[in-house]
Amino acid sequence: MDKIQIAKEKFEKILEKQLKRVEMINANKEFKNFKALDTITIGVCGGDGIGPRITGEGHKILEFLLKDEVAKGKVQFKVIDGLTIERRAELNKAIPDDTLAELKSCDVILKGPTTTPRKGDPWPNVESANVAMRKELDLFANVRPVKVPEEGIDWAFFRENTEGSYALGSEGFEVDDDLAIDFCVTTTEGTERIARAAFEYAKANGKNRVSIVTKANVVKTTDGKFLKLCNEVAKDYPGIEVDDWYIDIMTAKLIDKKRRTNFQVLILPNLYGDILTDEAAEFQGGVGTAGSANLGKQYAMFEAIHGSAPRMVQEGRDIYADPCSIFRACVMLLSHIGYTDAAGKLEKALDICMYTEKKVVITGRADGATSAEFSQYVMDTVAKM
Ligand code: IPM
Ligand code: MG
Repeated sequence: MDKIQIAKEKFEKILEKQLKRVEMINANKEFKNFKALDTITIGVCGGDGIGPRITGEGHKILEFLLKDEVAKGKVQFKVIDGLTIERRAELNKAIPDDTLAELKSCDVILKGPTTTPRKGDPWPNVESANVAMRKELDLFANVRPVKVPEEGIDWAFFRENTEGSYALGSEGFEVDDDLAIDFCVTTTEGTERIARAAFEYAKANGKNRVSIVTKANVVKTTDGKFLKLCNEVAKDYPGIEVDDWYIDIMTAKLIDKKRRTNFQVLILPNLYGDILTDEAAEFQGGVGTAGSANLGKQYAMFEAIHGSAPRMVQEGRDIYADPCSIFRACVMLLSHIGYTDAAGKLEKALDICMYTEKKVVITGRADGATSAEFSQYVMDTVAKM
């Protein structure tokens, strides 16, 4: 068959799938009310590499902070261990069906890092489990806070999490040996919901500035639509100042000490959000120090933002893995399901243990503490509050 015809057919399938997705997201506008649930189920999904180790420590801390709620039956935990790269490779699936069903039986999920195969790896080139989970559970808002109080940095990134260059990241195609095509997707509801989440957060947290980041001068259709819709949503929030930036200059301005303290809440399409949040986390001490919330209307998933560090496991050093990023994710999880008091305590304890008191120090090696010793230190610190 003619290669243009083959490409047209592939594109047709892509369009059909995306139009179905639009229908689905337009129909699901209600947020789950955690307070109204008899029991909140927290899934604990370890993932790969150091994932099970650090996620296990996060689980311990959550059990410790929520023990009364567990005793009352208001909270229950469910450990989900089927999301390893070995299993995903064997079944050739980004998320095995039984694991997906288990994830969907939870309300919120604490997730460890998962290995993402890429060309040249021993694994089949399956889609990232992370990206697949965000799509399957429709976790449209990736919220990543970065704080460096002594530098005046207090940013909240609202990264769109299901569209942009990620929506069809595994569905681009090579038309022939010379031509490869990928796609970028922006939908109306997909943009309005992330914009609204960012403005609502700004309003609820006394922030008076929201910055929209795109490359709408070049990526005119999808980024252009994103920018236009964010500006329209902004009209419903008259007390909040809005500015817009192109991603290139925003990347530069984050290292401009005079300008960067002006940023508060930022809204970005998926790929720019991915890149800028790694840069931002670096000011705070690197991706190992930051947590990440993936929020949807029915589900929410909280994760460490670093990778699975397979080398630490190969070298037998996983017992020394730094659990701070997943602990930060636990703070966000607790606050999302309404336990703001416990979230506040854990956050305060982490600031003490990581930055001020530092009685137990993680180095990633045998000259430092183990993850378990560090989590004990955090729990002891909470107990003293
Ligand atoms: C992140 C990660 C993922 C992403 C990878 C692991 C696919 O970098 O959560 O930022 O690109 O979104
Ligand atoms: Mg990333």
